[in-house]
Amino acid sequence: MAQVRSPIAVFCSGEGTNLQAILDAIRAGRLRARVALVIADRPTAKALVRAARAGAAARCVIPADYPSRAAFERALIRECEAHGVRLICLAGFMRILSPLFVRRYRHRILNIHPALLPAFRGSRAIRDALRWGVTVTGVTVHLVDEEVDHGPILLQEAVPIAPSDTERTLLAKVHRVEHRLYPKAIDAMLAGRVRITGRRVLIADRR
Ligand code: GRF
Repeated sequence: MAQVRSPIAVFCSGEGTNLQAILDAIRAGRLRARVALVIADRPTAKALVRAARAGAAARCVIPADYPSRAAFERALIRECEAHGVRLICLAGFMRILSPLFVRRYRHRILNIHPALLPAFRGSRAIRDALRWGVTVTGVTVHLVDEEVDHGPILLQEAVPIAPSDTERTLLAKVHRVEHRLYPKAIDAMLAGRVRITGRRVLIADRR
């Protein structure tokens, strides 16, 4: 019997390399999901091209087209509902979702962050890590709550920083880890292998 693939949405603003990793993991059978919807908040997001290439439904929802953040978010919700989305995966989505949106999808929104949270929150995590001179940074996949880069943590992995690293080389190292970690976290969520108690998360092994 064909396995049911849970519909997910991926929200992106930029390159969409994590979206690509998700699509590739699905194709390779490492992630039992279906990208039912890709949302971009700007028409130039490369994620839209990647979605089209993969035959995934994609919508460009531009905040400036709406009178308020609430109206913009209502449009996002309408799209997610129309596509039967079970899990929302933020992948470089450069918008902060309001508490109203977050509460509606409580424990159903994941984010990937290019640092070991709670270190280097915010949109410049890679540059900030280099400026601090830390020798280890990393990747975090976490649930989204009402605060930015804050919700319960599913997976983290360290990335060593070499003295010669630049923003470009460190980003490449971080991406390599992200592209492996995100599909793994999404698969665990969809398979019901994630137990959340307060801030603590327990992930059961894949059978
Ligand atoms: C990733 O590094 C992710 O951690 C951060 O935004 C970046 C998105 O990259 N939240 P891409 O668009 O998936 O290439």
